[in-house]
Amino acid sequence: MRISPSFGSAMASFFKMCRLHTIGRGSVVKCLQKVDTFLHRNIGTNVVAVQEEKNGFKSLYAVQAERQEQAERSVLISCHSMTNEKRFLEYLANYGDIQKYFFYGIYAVVEFANKESIASLFEGTAIPSIGTESMMPFKSRLLSMRNLDSVDLRNQPKKHLAQQSIPINELIQRLSKEESIDQQITSLTEAHQLTEESCRLRFLVCSLLKDIVAPFFPECTIKPFGSSVNGFGKLGCDLDMFLDLDGISGKNATMPKSGLFLEYQMKAAKSERIVTQNILSGIGTCMDLFGPGCVGLHKILDARCPLVRFTHQPSGFQCDLTANNRVAMKSTELLYLYGELDPRVRHLVFTVRCWAQAQGITKSIPGAWISNFSLTVMVLFFLQRRNPPIIPTLEHLRDLAGPEDKSVIEDNDCTFVSDFSKIQLESNTETLEQLLCEFFEFYASFSFKTLSINIRKGREQNKPVGDPLHIQNPFETTLNVSKNVNTTQLGRFVALCQESSWLIQQNKTAPSRGDTEGKATITLWGVSNLLLPSQIEEVKRKQNSSKKQKFEPTNQWIKDMLKSMKATNNQQNQS
Ligand code: GTP
Ligand code: MG
Repeated sequence: MRISPSFGSAMASFFKMCRLHTIGRGSVVKCLQKVDTFLHRNIGTNVVAVQEEKNGFKSLYAVQAERQEQAERSVLISCHSMTNEKRFLEYLANYGDIQKYFFYGIYAVVEFANKESIASLFEGTAIPSIGTESMMPFKSRLLSMRNLDSVDLRNQPKKHLAQQSIPINELIQRLSKEESIDQQITSLTEAHQLTEESCRLRFLVCSLLKDIVAPFFPECTIKPFGSSVNGFGKLGCDLDMFLDLDGISGKNATMPKSGLFLEYQMKAAKSERIVTQNILSGIGTCMDLFGPGCVGLHKILDARCPLVRFTHQPSGFQCDLTANNRVAMKSTELLYLYGELDPRVRHLVFTVRCWAQAQGITKSIPGAWISNFSLTVMVLFFLQRRNPPIIPTLEHLRDLAGPEDKSVIEDNDCTFVSDFSKIQLESNTETLEQLLCEFFEFYASFSFKTLSINIRKGREQNKPVGDPLHIQNPFETTLNVSKNVNTTQLGRFVALCQESSWLIQQNKTAPSRGDTEGKATITLWGVSNLLLPSQIEEVKRKQNSSKKQKFEPTNQWIKDMLKSMKATNNQQNQS
């Protein structure tokens, strides 16, 4: 079959970000026949769509198993000196059928149809020899494609930040062009959510790291958890990983009651925590010394949940590797389930997370800020408090669980239903616009001083004395997931909810097309306004420069100040 003219232009922009090539099982020739269909396709596919099955939903467990299997058949290739996609694919096709591939930056992710192809690829792969440097002899599936022929540097791909969401200013502009707040919220989710390629890359990185651990613990797996898989992941979010050694730990093994049997001799440690710390310490050292692409590694072993933190350079992911962290896996499963129950859940969480990031309520560094996890639980709680509720309580999900769902982790009841079809939702028809406005109002007037947020019960509980913000950990019920949050940060959150509640009420309607036509500037409205830096702190700082700052309920000065801002904005737009 003839290669279409679009192929030529696509070759010129070889290595352009965001290309996913999905081909059937077959040779590279067949794949090139279909190339024109795909080359210009944006691959920002909704991960959720991939997870859906014909009749209902796939459990997170099933999604993970499928992704892990795909990752084991994949390689990550740096293509510095490559200029020719066709030759690249032809070369790899010598080792087996290519099932899928995509490029990002200077890298290519290539998934073979069979795992055996990886072994034959390894046979044909050379050990590098660079000048006088010596190499750590660890062979991994992170490879480099070299080209000994002369290279046309004009087409040399430029390294750029892949997997990042669009800059906030661009997002604000994009949202202002939408016609309703509901559309703005949907558009925001689309711009931020993890793409199919980012999701695949996350599983591939876990699989590459597993290869480093496997010589010591062949039966282990490394699974992503947290926002990489719970459905609320934003492009560029960190990669939380869990080293699962349960298959080897013998926790569920049944001992014979009589007769001979053999057991392994194993090194003993004083506690489970010390075992976890030692494993992470040893594996962390291996990753640091042998792991290609693993840089800036820190062992944070004294944390409540010990972890190893590093950057995986080829993917650009900030990685947190934990072990013995099954409760966090359960929280991930729970969040995933809530996100699958009703599309409004995911939309609202994305919007609130984005708003919180733009307003500095959440930050990527540790501190007294509200975490994304806490914020997500706050959104879930709010949705449980609607009338009728949009999502059920965790207690209800536990009551629906069957024997196969039973899960007790370190004396914590982590049981909840996994069969989505057993969950009957109530018929709440509120729009995203209504929900966003109500979310801000709900928390602008929430009695944080006396009440605790509890998604297990789906209603407020009396708060234990102590922490300014109390959000009960859904599974470890004696813990507060927002223990780190101080009064100042909670005060900021409440003040920003008040401001945003007011702002959104004033800017609910899109400007008519006539207002914006022919003008270079775009009128900001709706959700766009919420992403602009807040004016509250500056005004408050000036007003209270001599006084001690304190949090006050919604008051006239905020309203007056915002009114004057709006008037100025309108004047500018009219001139
Ligand atoms: P981002 O990384 O900010 O996008 O969100 P995230 O949900 O991945 O949060 P984070 O990386 O901080 O934590 C990863 C996962 O660990 C969360 O999704 C939760 O499942 C779990 N987790 C985080 N903090 C807590 C906590 O305080 N208590 C419990 N039980 N689990 C937590
Ligand atoms: Mg995370």
